[in-house]
Amino acid sequence: MKGFPEDFNWGVATSSYQIEGAAFEDGRGESIWDRFCATPGKVANSEDGLTACDHYHRFEEDIQIMKQLGVTTYRFSMAWPRMFPKGDSVREQRGFDFYDRLINELLANGIKPLPTLYHWDLPQTLQDKGGWANRATVDAFAQYAAAAVEAFGDRVTEWLTLNEPWCVTWLGYMNGVHAPGVKNLDHALAAAHHTALAHAEASRAMRAVRSDLRIGLALNMTTYRIEDESDKDLAELGDLMDAQLNRWWIQAFLTGSYPENLMKIHEARLGNIILPGDLERLKVQTDILGVNYYSDSFIGLPRAEDKPLIEEGLFPFPHRMNGSAPGPYTDMGWPVTPVGLEELLLRIARDWPEIEDIAITENGAAYDYQPDESGEVNDIRRIEYLLSHLEAAGRAIEKGAPLKSYYAWSLMDNFEWAEGYNKRFGLVHVDFKTLKRTIKNSGKAYSEVIAASSRALARN
Ligand code: FCB
Repeated sequence: MKGFPEDFNWGVATSSYQIEGAAFEDGRGESIWDRFCATPGKVANSEDGLTACDHYHRFEEDIQIMKQLGVTTYRFSMAWPRMFPKGDSVREQRGFDFYDRLINELLANGIKPLPTLYHWDLPQTLQDKGGWANRATVDAFAQYAAAAVEAFGDRVTEWLTLNEPWCVTWLGYMNGVHAPGVKNLDHALAAAHHTALAHAEASRAMRAVRSDLRIGLALNMTTYRIEDESDKDLAELGDLMDAQLNRWWIQAFLTGSYPENLMKIHEARLGNIILPGDLERLKVQTDILGVNYYSDSFIGLPRAEDKPLIEEGLFPFPHRMNGSAPGPYTDMGWPVTPVGLEELLLRIARDWPEIEDIAITENGAAYDYQPDESGEVNDIRRIEYLLSHLEAAGRAIEKGAPLKSYYAWSLMDNFEWAEGYNKRFGLVHVDFKTLKRTIKNSGKAYSEVIAASSRALARN
């Protein structure tokens, strides 16, 4: 694949709640996703992560599949309620033991582990006290992060703190489509601030345990397309949405500030949330910027039903895409827009030259392909998605973007949050009745890309 240096990290990504199952085994505590799934009407077909891919019991098999694919690194997440079932300081050793086994097995197979500490499965007991809207969650998270580094920092030197704090904030606490299903602007703004603070405080707590770590976080980012650039209102709306999604967390860790346009709109509310001294504490050394990229977002003229939202200081969520998004679309209804990935990577390099290591921590597409009579899964549109995005990433590298790693979302089909099991993102097919795994043709295509790049390495 053109553009990729020889030491490039080729990976796949997953997250704990989406694959592990064993939801109440070995002392694991309840998470907000267990509670959300058990609440009628929240998740498609009332599905849940109780069994998921049963990775908890099958991780050795899954690591062999990764080895077959030839990946050099694996991004997974640790379930906080497995290690601290109630989110306090009482440890569950069996939870630590599971990640110990997982990490050792990865290393024994030559695969570098990249854990994410928080990929959405908050201990329910913390949500009972307000969750991310409650400032105390910041300290609880920093303690948990430090304990994870104490346990695994001898073998794991690269870490991500939070996954997609935008989704945590705006889907979890404002429009309520994700756990904990809260719909409250004060809670959302508190979560926006507390997740940024949590990244900073956890990074410091982790470095206090070991100074040699490389720490980052994974943000969902997009390239916005504005339908009519000459429309002043639309341009302003686009800038607000860009601030809310692309700039809030980056600006926090780089400069200890938040975008001015949002500070102004939410001034009164944020005044009660951001305490004196907080802004300085937001700034923190961040070694890796993880970018989760799926598609561009299209902003069109607000529809009548959007107007009251905008007046309240809220903006239509990007996936509402009330602009006209060109096809083709994936099963999520997201448009396929590889050029936007190239532009996003170049924009990061241009706007934030301090960032020296970008990782695409997620990229992928939902398409429902099942095994044919011969057992083959010929997921041709996923192959096209994967290769076109890799080509875009390669072009961005050639033009100077400091991209060091790529993680395909996802290793295998899994529990896709509010969408349940119907949206299949895997390079590996999972039969959710038998839990049988089958490498799809996209997995084979990815493995060829990786092999070709390591052959280049071997030639030198
Ligand atoms: C991202 C999530 C990830 C997965 C993909 C499709 O927002 O981080 O867990 O569900 O979307």
